Amino acid sequence: MTATQNGSENDKVFIFDTTLRDGEQSPGASMTLEEKLQIAEILDEMGVDIIEAGFPIASNGDFEAVAEIAKNSKRSVIAGLARAIHADIDRCGEAVKHAQRGRIHTFVSTSPIHLKYQMNKSEEQVLDIITDTVARARNLIDDIEWSAMDATRTPIEYLCRAVEAAISAGATTINLPDTVGYATPDEYKQMFMDIRNRVPNADKAIFSVHCHDDLGLAVANSLAGVAGGARQIECTINGLGERAGNAALEEIVMAIRTRGDVLPYSCGVEPKFMTRASKLVAGASGFAVQYNKAIVGKNAFAHESGIHQDGMLKNAETYEIMRPEDVGVRATSLIMGKHSGRHAFKDKLKELGYELGDNALQEAFRRFKDLADRKKHVYDEDIEALVEDEISIASD
Ligand code: KIV
Ligand code: ZN
Repeated sequence: MTATQNGSENDKVFIFDTTLRDGEQSPGASMTLEEKLQIAEILDEMGVDIIEAGFPIASNGDFEAVAEIAKNSKRSVIAGLARAIHADIDRCGEAVKHAQRGRIHTFVSTSPIHLKYQMNKSEEQVLDIITDTVARARNLIDDIEWSAMDATRTPIEYLCRAVEAAISAGATTINLPDTVGYATPDEYKQMFMDIRNRVPNADKAIFSVHCHDDLGLAVANSLAGVAGGARQIECTINGLGERAGNAALEEIVMAIRTRGDVLPYSCGVEPKFMTRASKLVAGASGFAVQYNKAIVGKNAFAHESGIHQDGMLKNAETYEIMRPEDVGVRATSLIMGKHSGRHAFKDKLKELGYELGDNALQEAFRRFKDLADRKKHVYDEDIEALVEDEISIASD
């Protein structure tokens, strides 16, 4: 661990990317081996601490992807997912053993509804399963993450017992997922505080957040969990993931970097790779990024309204809290449309190589507004045609 940017070693938050596992579980988002290797390469390069590369028991393709990513990774820990079943754990161990640093991530449900309908097991039986499967994983490798699936709908007393059992059996990271995206930030933070206060061996593990976005709270919940003492955040590029998705990595990282005053944590991810990573994941998964998506959406650094464009031309901090180049976007764009003002129009003409006198500018601006009322997108070529026309009228 290193002390970085915002604070001391204790403030370091580990970024665990699960685009290739939870992200790929989005219906229709499956990716080829080649695409997965490219995504893993950029995640490794950008400084993601842990890459969850897949679910090795799920298929031979998944096994191969995890094993290949494990062989190729340079810096990141490579994790594979395993249910609380010996065959899953052994297969996962086989896949991650090639990594310089490998991790087995095993999980079991803990909530009453999952115990009753999914597992048909009692609380005591599940505690035995935790002890047995975590110990088996720990026999294969030292770095073991254990997750309590549906933790946020699990009574706290039982969750404490399950966490204690997992740590006693050798788990080094404890993940408490909001599997169905049900929690609110205050509740999620409180859960981490309670568990860390009540479980006797809690200080032997790093706690992790894993949030789904069913109520649109995944990023807020993740940051709240960190305020409650968690130091690992599980997230995905573009927020890809089951149902409404997981917490978006780019939002988490930029929230921490931009608001260090109230989020005093450090993370080692270099944001300038984010735009490239986002495009890569959108292309591989076939899930287009919405225009107004924070950080990586096409409009995240675009301004159309006259008031905003005027402000931006005077000082970018009037309407931008992050610099586009920091996240790999070449520059802010001032989109010419019906909301644009005279100042931005004049600036655009200058960029295109035109300087008009007051009267010609006035007329060109009037015609531009008429055009923008009729056309959704006004391109540079439209403006050039309009100005050329104006110049030829003036010279007749
Ligand atoms: O959402 C979830 O509970 C999961 C676990 C497998 C960690 O993805
Ligand atoms: Zn999940």
